[in-house]
Amino acid sequence: MVHINLLKKWMYVLLAFFVVLTICFWKETYKGYYVPFKIESKTFQIPRVLDKWDVLKSRMLSNEVVGKKNQASVPGKETQGKTKGNVSATATGNNLEAKTKKSVGSSKVWNEDTSSSNLTPRLQKVRKNYLSMNKYNVAYNGPRNAVKLSPEKLLCQLQDRVNVTMVQRSDGPFNTSDWHRYLPRRNISGEVGHLGRCAVVSSAGSLKSSRLGPEIDSHDAVLRFNGAPTKGFLNDVGGKTTLRLINSQLVTVEDQHFLTETLYNTGILIVWDPAPYHAEIHEWYRKLDYDFFKNYKQYRNRYPEQPFYILNPKMQWQLWDVLQENSVEDIQPNPPSSGLLGIVIMMTLCDEVDIYEFLPSKRQTDICHYYQRFHDRACTMGAYHPLLFEKNLVKHMNRGTDEAIYTHGKVTLPGFRNMQC
Ligand SMILES: *[C@@H]1O[C@H](CO)[C@@H](O)[C@H](O)[C@H]1NC(C)=O
Ligand SMILES: *[C@@H]1O[C@H](CO)[C@@H](O)[C@H](O)[C@H]1NC(C)=O
Ligand SMILES: *[C@@H]1O[C@H](CO)[C@@H](O)[C@H](O)[C@H]1NC(C)=O
Ligand SMILES: *[C@@H]1O[C@H](CO)[C@@H](O)[C@H](O)[C@H]1NC(C)=O
Repeated sequence: MVHINLLKKWMYVLLAFFVVLTICFWKETYKGYYVPFKIESKTFQIPRVLDKWDVLKSRMLSNEVVGKKNQASVPGKETQGKTKGNVSATATGNNLEAKTKKSVGSSKVWNEDTSSSNLTPRLQKVRKNYLSMNKYNVAYNGPRNAVKLSPEKLLCQLQDRVNVTMVQRSDGPFNTSDWHRYLPRRNISGEVGHLGRCAVVSSAGSLKSSRLGPEIDSHDAVLRFNGAPTKGFLNDVGGKTTLRLINSQLVTVEDQHFLTETLYNTGILIVWDPAPYHAEIHEWYRKLDYDFFKNYKQYRNRYPEQPFYILNPKMQWQLWDVLQENSVEDIQPNPPSSGLLGIVIMMTLCDEVDIYEFLPSKRQTDICHYYQRFHDRACTMGAYHPLLFEKNLVKHMNRGTDEAIYTHGKVTLPGFRNMQC
């Protein structure tokens, strides 16, 4: 008798324990702080983290930045592409559908006046630390537009001021016989031909279950980023890859398997690497953020038929200046995200550009990438990259509707050649 009572008691205790455990676990997951161990340990091995479009990511890193603001050598970027300004921050996960049945007000999509005060305290701190760290020696003394430019003027400013070019055989330190063997002979516009409608596909978690695949594939050309796969996600992101913009870290860091991963064998590749502020190409050549040249050459030897360009580093800071000039606050003194670079590259190659889930749709989530499971608000709001300000800029220039943003995460921008400036 005594034994049975004791046993019962223990059973209850055990049961209560499991209930508590389950609740705790569920809460963690819901908060978005559940990071699978695998990815976390991967992140540890990588010195710099990438942006939302990028492969890896960075809750860890941005935490690191909070801690070590005065260290000179630093990590990188955040991740991915969704967002929310003031946007119903509560409408995550399951609540979303229910809440959004109502009409699509502009309050439901990214607010182009989002400011750093809309960031979480952690991300505000990260931004401040990047501002004081100033790794790339940014010294901006250009104008600041207190009054917003019209979208047309802003588009023209981008066209005028940002020179999108790839490194050519005649450029500076690349004009040697050694490099001559590696750089593509044809320029990129000759390579892609005249493109009409183009799609830029972010890697945002909000692409999951979007069923945007067929719409994306209906474009003449599709740009993707870093290691974003199509296999296994056809229905949501499509299967076409015309161009792929990758960062130098992905090319360089061993465990990204850049040389062997077949994902990279499709489409035209473009690699970019952060340069010191307005550095001449020679200076950047000596001070690469990631020394990707060896793997670049190896890849070219292995796949000589696949066009593979190096983005001229001038572009990133010309674009950054436009971003700073049109932002009320100081933006992070780090290069723009791959996402924004990709958008502007496509504006030079295409008549019209549709951008998916750079501004988040109703599917917005803190999940960083549609093909991975970790969460971080930084993927949407920015840590290393001035993502928040990039989104404000893109929203201001959008020629599509708020409804298209809400339902498809879609923004439409004109190609430069179709503008009258
Ligand atoms: C966010 O909400 C606050 C208070 O509701 C408001 O003052 C602020 O302008 C909003 N900011 C954005 C970006 O919507
Ligand atoms: C862009 O490139 C053209 C020709 O290559 C050059 O004339 C022009 O000055 C450049 N503009 C900027 C802002 O660098
Ligand atoms: C390469 O370009 C530099 C200028 O950037 C020039 O001084 C040099 O003569 C060029 N070298 C060759 C082999 O053309
Ligand atoms: C690219 O090459 C084509 C010839 O293949 C030429 O007509 C065109 O002007 C070049 N474009 C640029 C931007 O250099």
